[in-house]
Amino acid sequence: MIDKRIEQFAEEHTSNESPFLYKLNRTTHLRTFYPNMLSGKVQGKFLEMLMYMLRPKRVLEIGTFTGYSALAMAQGMPEDSFLYTIEINEELEDFLHHTFNEAGEGKRIKLLMGDALEIIPELDEVFDFVFIDADKEQYIDYYEAVFRKVVPGGFILSDNVLWGGKAVFDNKPPDKETKGIRSFNEHIKNDNRVDKVMLTLRDGLYLIRKL
Ligand SMILES: C[S@@+](CC[C@H](N)C(=O)[O-])C[C@H]1O[C@@H](n2cnc3c(N)ncnc32)[C@H](O)[C@@H]1O
Repeated sequence: MIDKRIEQFAEEHTSNESPFLYKLNRTTHLRTFYPNMLSGKVQGKFLEMLMYMLRPKRVLEIGTFTGYSALAMAQGMPEDSFLYTIEINEELEDFLHHTFNEAGEGKRIKLLMGDALEIIPELDEVFDFVFIDADKEQYIDYYEAVFRKVVPGGFILSDNVLWGGKAVFDNKPPDKETKGIRSFNEHIKNDNRVDKVMLTLRDGLYLIRKL
């Protein structure tokens, strides 16, 4: 959606991925059907920077895929912190365990396999930072399920809120994902329990702070 030359320019002016994330990015492109689901170099570095800024002790990710964003966040998190990441696709389980162990993050990153909407209510934890990046139709449900587990002053970051521009432009009847993202954006805009800023980085990020 953002001009390719501008994206390229931003990539060129961003620090290189760690060798491990570079390899994971390549492997994801070679081995999966939808590699563009992965956060990638610029967004990964942004997530890492956010972790360095916020120093969160308890992080939750909804939607692991091949583990790129989880590992990018872990790079910037304090040593005595942990990250839960939830993934529904069982085919990714062995790959993810192997990847997190190989990266030396097998203890700090706890992979939870299953539907986030079933797992979140069972989690006996509170979180300083939550990254929502799973099924676009369910964004409001993830948000509401996790909201009470976010500490006051904690953050929720939601990915793909521009949805390739379809969240913004009305030129076609919206598909289910577009409807989900549009409803979510409206929900957050009208939610007076939070402070928020929408960022046009990559496919759009909604950065939300619980008051
Ligand atoms: C966009 S990808 C995540 C990308 C990853 N966060 C990254 O940046 O590298 C979305 C993932 O969410 C998973 N997912 C979809 N619905 C889910 C649900 N209800 N619970 C848990 N995971 C789900 C999908 O299987 C997919 O792997």
